[in-house]
Amino acid sequence: MIQQVIHETPRGIIYIEGPCPGTYLAELTMNNKLTNFRPPDKQKEALIRITQMPHGMIYIARHEKEIVGYITFHRPDEISRWIKHPRVLELGGIEISSDWRRLKIAESILQAGFANPVMEDYIIITMEMCWHWDTRNTKLDIWAYQKVLCNLFGSVGMKKTPTDDPDITEHPANVLMARTGQNVSHSDLMLFESMRFQNKFGNAVNLL
Ligand SMILES: CC(C)(COP(=O)(O)OP(=O)(O)OC[C@H]1O[C@@H](n2cnc3c(N)ncnc32)[C@H](O)[C@@H]1OP(=O)(O)O)[C@@H](O)C(=O)NCCC(=O)NCCS
Repeated sequence: MIQQVIHETPRGIIYIEGPCPGTYLAELTMNNKLTNFRPPDKQKEALIRITQMPHGMIYIARHEKEIVGYITFHRPDEISRWIKHPRVLELGGIEISSDWRRLKIAESILQAGFANPVMEDYIIITMEMCWHWDTRNTKLDIWAYQKVLCNLFGSVGMKKTPTDDPDITEHPANVLMARTGQNVSHSDLMLFESMRFQNKFGNAVNLL
């Protein structure tokens, strides 16, 4: 069942909704500035595809009939090390249209997503990679942007998590963040810990 939260802003009422079925998303339009990852029509197709994946979930911020922001949850990519962990879900993307930023919509949509009890059954990871960051519109440099994202994801209990995952180590500003749900077993947590460092000296580093 879709949960809905009303988020009032000086620019109008925003409905925070999810998890949204693909059929519902198909009826809505995309704000034309949702271009951070790909053009809006392609991004809408990608959101609908995620709803069809096992464990895929989309939360949206909606103004009237228009999607103005979203977050995605899904299993990690097939080529990522994290796919080998049965209890890891990835917060794959968050985007708020530049028409609607600085109105606490990102905070609100994250809170709605993490209020879903299913989150307590998983380790939620997010891989913050600086080549996706909108430094042009926000006018932030990558370090200030990294701080904003760490605070934003920190607001729902995600913590910076050291790793030697090459996607993260490829750039010093990239960050892995993770949150362990309350129902995650000790052995699943230990498995996750053992996966964080996998290169030759990784486990030694991990013990420091
Ligand atoms: C990052 C992003 C999601 C933030 O969305 P938003 O709805 O504007 O964020 P919020 O209004 O909820 O901001 C919450 C807090 O984060 C900080 N923050 C957000 N954007 C900021 C900015 N451009 N400059 C400084 N601080 C900022 C502020 O502390 C803010 O609270 P405040 O406005 O009361 O000071 C948005 O800028 C975006 O979509 N960027 C492009 C996509 C992206 O980078 N995604 C992350 C990687 S997947």
